[in-house]
Amino acid sequence: MRTIIITGGAGFIGSHVVRLFVNKYPDYKIINLDKLTYAGNLANLRDIEDRPNYKFVKMDICDFEGVLELMRAEHVDGIIHLAAESHVDRSIKDPFTFAQTNVMGTLSLLQAAKTYWEPMGWEGKRFYHISTDEVYGALEMTDPSGIEPPFTTKASSGKHHLAYGSKFFTEDLKYQPHSPYSAAKASSDHFVRAFHDTYGLPTIVTNCSNNYGPYQFPEKLIPLFINNIRHRKPLPVYGKGENVRDWLYVEDHARAIDLIFHKGVIGDTYNIGGFNEWKNIDIIKVLIGTVDRLLGRPEGADMDLITYVTDRAGHDLRYAIDSSKLQRELGWEPSLQFEEGIEKTVRWYLDNQDWMDNVTSGDYQKYYENMYSNR
Ligand code: NAD
Ligand code: DAU
Repeated sequence: MRTIIITGGAGFIGSHVVRLFVNKYPDYKIINLDKLTYAGNLANLRDIEDRPNYKFVKMDICDFEGVLELMRAEHVDGIIHLAAESHVDRSIKDPFTFAQTNVMGTLSLLQAAKTYWEPMGWEGKRFYHISTDEVYGALEMTDPSGIEPPFTTKASSGKHHLAYGSKFFTEDLKYQPHSPYSAAKASSDHFVRAFHDTYGLPTIVTNCSNNYGPYQFPEKLIPLFINNIRHRKPLPVYGKGENVRDWLYVEDHARAIDLIFHKGVIGDTYNIGGFNEWKNIDIIKVLIGTVDRLLGRPEGADMDLITYVTDRAGHDLRYAIDSSKLQRELGWEPSLQFEEGIEKTVRWYLDNQDWMDNVTSGDYQKYYENMYSNR
């Protein structure tokens, strides 16, 4: 029996983590603590919302007293912390909100956990902080010896893998965040480690690469572009579309979180990623081909939707995670090939147009607004 708070459980990744834990651990009590910002959508969890081991609490992670009271009332012994402002473009326009939620919110949770757990001892307690690969900054796209990418390298699973540079993000790399989003996430990671080193709080940090899959808010590349292709709207490609991201299916991230929450070493950091680098423009072409095929349009008919626009300020060139520590020490591996994952994802968005329409119209926020009062 455990009682776990999952913060940000109404968001994209959080909803997959909540679903996995509620289904897999009927003896655990799972409390989804979420403020329901624009990114929170309880419709993401409709299939499990009536389960006896699930509870939703509308709360801001910055509400230290509220979190502490909840921890005491529910005898919480674990926190999996995903709540954050997560979109880079929004952070460029409004950095204050990112510092408030990602830094001060994380600090408020850490302090509440310390205040509640310290007098009873750390045994059996765990504070697991979910972070991003963006804290490491950006990687080069050439080999120091002058060889032009892409290279074929061997991932730690032994499979061949296309890489756009010879360097990867490893856990010991210096933090070099560039955007207000990644700077705020980096700062929150430092606070988590500081609470471990200073007070002995049992913490774990993981840094994951770009996730994709169902229930992602359509401001992010993949759901935005699937929806635009469906409606034959322009696809705004930043810069030349040459930036590289390392994509992981969201359920594989959720499985890694489950494994690390239960088996990870306290005080440690793990990188999570699928050795799956893609240039944006190549992914966009795959998306166009897949949507067109599934909708019965001539394949590639919508290539002319590609519209090159002004680049994102400070746009990181390449992210590439080395997750070999996680694979070696805890035996985790991504379960899906990218081609399967993308096909599943495109199908999900096309089959769930109601979900998408609810989000794009703003109706998803109205649906729940009378159900939960603000604290
Ligand atoms: P998301 O934007 O889809 O969801 C964020 C959730 O947090 C929402 O439900 C929102 O309502 C909630 N929230 C925001 N501010 C809050 C506050 N002050 N108090 C309580 N709840 C609040 O985010 P996501 O893409 O699912 O990312 C989840 C976490 O994973 C974030 O910490 C992010 O940095 C990290 N991450 C994301 C990715 C990715 O590709 N999406 C990759 C690596 C790491
Ligand atoms: O690497 C992990 C990070 O991945 C997470 O920490 C972030 O929370 C998550 O949002 C994601 O960040 P990105 O900035 O990489 O994701 P986004 O979907 O916004 O953009 C992916 C790439 O596509 C990026 O190079 C910018 C580009 N892009 C994005 C949008 C929304 C476009 O070219 N056009 C667009 O309209």
